[in-house]
Amino acid sequence: MSEKKGTILSAMRPTGKLHLGNLFGALENWIKLQDAYHCFFSIADWHALTTAYEKPQNIKENTREMVLDWLSCGIDPQKAVIFKQSDVKEHAELHLLLSMIAPLSWLERVPTYKEQLQQVRGRNLATYGFLGYPLLQAADILIYNADAVPVGEDQAPHIELTREIARRFNYLYDQKVFSEPETILNEYKLVPGLDGRKMSKSYDNVIEISIPPSEIPSRVRMMITDPGRIRKDDPGNPQICSIYAFHRIFNQKGLKEIETSCREGKIGCVECKNVLSAHMQEFLEPIYCKRGELEKDPQLVERTLEEGAKKAQKVARETLQEVRFLMGLS
Ligand code: TRP
Ligand code: SF4
Repeated sequence: MSEKKGTILSAMRPTGKLHLGNLFGALENWIKLQDAYHCFFSIADWHALTTAYEKPQNIKENTREMVLDWLSCGIDPQKAVIFKQSDVKEHAELHLLLSMIAPLSWLERVPTYKEQLQQVRGRNLATYGFLGYPLLQAADILIYNADAVPVGEDQAPHIELTREIARRFNYLYDQKVFSEPETILNEYKLVPGLDGRKMSKSYDNVIEISIPPSEIPSRVRMMITDPGRIRKDDPGNPQICSIYAFHRIFNQKGLKEIETSCREGKIGCVECKNVLSAHMQEFLEPIYCKRGELEKDPQLVERTLEEGAKKAQKVARETLQEVRFLMGLS
């Protein structure tokens, strides 16, 4: 344990089955980090509630699906602490205590808050909970004294706020309780969706990580290629083709050959898609099989989260004791 480099925390909101964009945008990074660091990976179900409070029915099922995806891709409960945020009530207490010292203006100027408030329609996000979203995130991070937080670029302002809150706390109570976490920007592989836009649930253009391998070819056939190629021997431009972007990920060895054949009009898109499908099947088959194995044990997710919560709680309790003391409560 002691030879690990430091502590990492990250979290995802339970949105249900993950897709390839999640795998190559985040999960792959987490899997690499779990060997070298003490990792805490959390299902941020309270965060989900800040926006889904009117329709919370799916949160529980989404949590289960997400844990199964994490495990089948290689997040390992022996290496990392996997837990559900709402199982560790200490996060809520720290959030409350930090709310005493968090200036309103700091929260109001967080870019994600301002944008979402204007952009999201059909849901009322002018709530206390949504304003507090990044502060709850700060509590998630600071309670484990994480040294670093791997996230996508959109989350960077939240980690910046976390650092500011840590600094303010340390200053007010004249102690170095919280360390200021670094942001590790996820190494991001571009994964286009079926329609060529970014792969995202809200565009309905995703391929799930847990897709049965037999369904891959039909999904791949739906994907957009270079629209300028009409006949099979027309020269193509792989740079504007989603299939080529996928070859980059799943067929690194054959990439050069695909590029040349496409540019010279020596491979048709149908064949190119077949080659890709075969590589994707090879990659996703073991993940699919592992998920099948994991699903055979109906208690597995519950057990994993229970054990994770216990480990997380041990650390969280210690931090809170100190915070309560410094804030005059015990
Ligand atoms: N806000 C993050 C997201 O939407 C999820 C999250 C919650 C998180 N708590 C966190 C990420 C703590 C990193 C650290 O992706
Ligand atoms: Fe895309 Fe392949 Fe067709 Fe070229 S041959 S346009 S890379 S699908």
